Amino acid sequence: MSAADSRGRSVHLRRHLVDALTETGDLRTRPWRDAIQAVPREVFIPTFFRPVDGPAETLWMPVTADLIDESEWLELAYQDETWVTQLDGQLDPKQTERPVTGVPTSSSTMPGLVVRMLEELRVEDGAKVLEIGTGTGYSTALLSERLGGEFVTSIEYDSAVARRAALALGTAGYTPNLVVGDGLDGHPATALFDRVIATCSVRHVPAAWIEQTRPGGSILTTLTGWLDASAGLVRLEVTGQGRAKGTFLGTTDSFMPARPHDRPALPDDLFDWLGETSGKERATAIGPEVLEQTVDWTAAYLAQLAVPGAQPIGISEGDGPMITYLIDGGRQAFAALIPQSDRSWRVRTAGPVDLWARVERILETWRAAGQPSLDSFHIDIRPDVQTISLTGVGDRPLGSLPLRT
Ligand SMILES: C[S@@+](CC[C@H](N)C(=O)[O-])C[C@H]1O[C@@H](n2cnc3c(N)ncnc32)[C@H](O)[C@@H]1O
Repeated sequence: MSAADSRGRSVHLRRHLVDALTETGDLRTRPWRDAIQAVPREVFIPTFFRPVDGPAETLWMPVTADLIDESEWLELAYQDETWVTQLDGQLDPKQTERPVTGVPTSSSTMPGLVVRMLEELRVEDGAKVLEIGTGTGYSTALLSERLGGEFVTSIEYDSAVARRAALALGTAGYTPNLVVGDGLDGHPATALFDRVIATCSVRHVPAAWIEQTRPGGSILTTLTGWLDASAGLVRLEVTGQGRAKGTFLGTTDSFMPARPHDRPALPDDLFDWLGETSGKERATAIGPEVLEQTVDWTAAYLAQLAVPGAQPIGISEGDGPMITYLIDGGRQAFAALIPQSDRSWRVRTAGPVDLWARVERILETWRAAGQPSLDSFHIDIRPDVQTISLTGVGDRPLGSLPLRT
């Protein structure tokens, strides 16, 4: 394809993307429509991974200009898909020609979600925005197109990812303030901001984001935890003196965790510890399916709040059933959920806290309260404590659940 043909095709595909995202309702206003039309997404994803089914787990197939036809690559760039651009914190698609396994650590988020968040950000001309998670730079380019690069600061943790984003942004003609570092610290040098937007997810809201947002400004992020349960999008209105009030927007979006908030490695002697520790066993009316957001979005998030230091792992021995373990390495505690032949569950717990009793307690109270969905809760951020509570009924019946351990 000649350069002119390729440019023409790109403009045409962008027009289609604008129509498709308008149709889904993700794209609602003229300024963001113009931004999507203006920014060539292909510049930000010259290479990426495409997921394919493997025998046991997802495999990641590299997509680079040498491996597929240019017009096919352009078509893929304008699909409303998230394209993974880094695995395991180091592997980029140029480093392999074969499908590989790995955990995504950077990506170009699907344009529908990117633009829905940008619409939710509710910016006006002249707003100063801090973005956490530059990634490929595509969303940074949209912000820069809409507001002007001088109003946009974007922080990326991973220096190789940041380098590629800087190159792409330069190629596309954008000049935002790019920072390589931990976005959880914000960027005092260009604060105060009117808006903070995070395209990686946090366990609790970093104090720096609150401090660096102008009172009256807002923060848009997702909350997550070590059970991988997301709260969807939340908006926090900053009121000053380290405080903010937030609402859950009722979406089921999730992002990869902000790297310092990701779960820690499990103890090296895990299997010895699990094998040697007998613990106490009892029946439980609540099985591990409550940890699945596909079963109930809110229940899984509340369960995670009950045991913030725990992470899940499934273990089966030989032909035995799959046992779900919740492991809190910091507290040296675990709960093992063991399926019974009559479809009931028993739980074996060990350590100074009964992890499963905490999950049972929170979910029983939530069920007794009529199973309110997450968007019935509000978030209260103070310098010393961050909590979520049911809106309109004070601290009862669920109490104020801390976001921080
Ligand atoms: C989903 S991707 C970002 C998508 C991006 N906005 C785009 O449009 O391409 C999330 C990014 O957040 C970055 N990240 C993770 N933790 C971070 C942190 N603490 N500070 C800044 N960036 C972080 C990851 O390296 C990754 O590149």
